[in-house]
Amino acid sequence: MIRVAILGGSGYTALELIKILLRHPQATIVAVTSRQADSPRVDEVHPSLGKRLDLRLEPLDAGQLRARGVQCVFGCLPHGASMGSLPRLLERGLRVVDLSADYRLRDPNVYAEWYGESHEDLANLAQAVYGLPEVYGDEIAAAQLIANPGCYPQTGILGLAPLVAGKLIDPRTIIIDSKSGVSGAGRTPKLTTHFPECNESVSAYAVGTHRHTPEIEQVLADIAGEPVEVIFTPHLIPMDRGIFSTIYATPRRAMAEAELMDLYRTYYARAPFVRVVDHLPSTKHTLGTNYLDVTVRVVRGRVVVLACEDNLIRGASGVAVQNFNRMFGFDERMGLE
Ligand SMILES: NC(=O)c1ccc[n+]([C@@H]2O[C@H](COP(=O)([O-])OP(=O)(O)OC[C@H]3O[C@@H](n4cnc5c(N)ncnc54)[C@H](OP(=O)(O)O)[C@@H]3O)[C@@H](O)[C@H]2O)c1
Repeated sequence: MIRVAILGGSGYTALELIKILLRHPQATIVAVTSRQADSPRVDEVHPSLGKRLDLRLEPLDAGQLRARGVQCVFGCLPHGASMGSLPRLLERGLRVVDLSADYRLRDPNVYAEWYGESHEDLANLAQAVYGLPEVYGDEIAAAQLIANPGCYPQTGILGLAPLVAGKLIDPRTIIIDSKSGVSGAGRTPKLTTHFPECNESVSAYAVGTHRHTPEIEQVLADIAGEPVEVIFTPHLIPMDRGIFSTIYATPRRAMAEAELMDLYRTYYARAPFVRVVDHLPSTKHTLGTNYLDVTVRVVRGRVVVLACEDNLIRGASGVAVQNFNRMFGFDERMGLE
C-alpha cells in the first residue's frame, strides 16, 4: 500500500483525486494540505466526501509528511506555487506528480516567455518527466517528478500523435479549436467564470497567447522529430466540465478516411484510455471517466480530428493516477475503471 498526500486540497482536481484514490486498492490517503486556517475537515470543504474520508486539511510540512511515511505527493497547486513548494518534498526523496504547469516546459526561457516569471527550480525542471503515458510511458516508471500534462494539450497531442509520428501532415498547418467547461479554470472564483458572465454564452480567450501552445508544440515535436507549429484557440462554454477539440491539418499526401482510422486504431491499440471511435465523440461519453475519445475524418482533402475528454479526470486527476500506477509498478488501469 502506497501512502500518499495531496496538496491544494480544497480545489477541484484534489477532490477528483481523492475520489479516485479512495477506490484505489494500493493507495491510502495520509494527508490533504491547504493554506486554510483552523484545519477544517476535508468534508467541510468537499461535502461530497462525507463519511468517505476522515481527515482534516493541514498546512504543508514536508518533514511531517516524510515522517508519516508518505511516498508519493500529488501537487494540485497553481503554477508558481508548485515550484515554491515541491523542492522541499523532492529533496526528502518523495516522489511527486505535479498537476500544475511548472515542470512541463523543458526550456526555462520558454516558461519565462509564456508564464511571465522566471523558473525558480531549474534542478528539478531538468529531471521532470512529462506525464503523458501514451508518449513517455517508459520514462514515467523511473521518474521522481512527473509533470502531469495540461487538460487542453492532451486532446491536441493525442489527437495528432498518429499523424505527426507518421509525418503524414504538414506540421505548420495545424489548427486546434478547443472548448472547455468552466471547471477548467479551477474553484477560485473569477469574473469570467462568474455564472451571469459565462452562462448562455460562448467566448474565445487568450487567442494566440494561451500557455498550452508551447506545451503542445514541445510534445508534438518530440513525436514528430521535427518542429511543429500550432494555432490553438480555446473557448469557454457554459457547462461544468469537459473539453472538446476540433483539429484541422493539411496532409502531405492524399489519404482515405479508412486508412487514417486504421492508423489511429493501430497507434492506440495498447493504450487502455484512448478510444478510437467510429462515431462523432461527445463530452457526455467521456464525462467522469479517464477515457479520451478520438475520431478522424477527411474533408475536402484536409484532415479533421475530433477529440474529447473530461478535463478533471483524463485532463488532470485520472491521468495523474495513471502516472502513479506506472511509477509504482501497478496496472495502469488500477482505480480508474
Ligand atoms: N481544473 C482543471 O481542469 C485542471 C486540469 C489540468 C490541470 N490543472 C492544474 O491543476 C492545478 C490545480 O487546479 P484546480 O483546478 O484544482 O485549481 P483550484 O480548484 O483553484 O485549486 C487549487 C488549490 O490550491 C490552493 N492554492 C491556491 N493558491 C495557492 C497559493 N498561492 N499557494 C498555495 N496554495 C494555493 C488552494 O487551496 P487552499 O486555499 O485550500 O490552500 C486551491 O483550492 C493547477 O495548477 C491547474 O492549472 C487543472
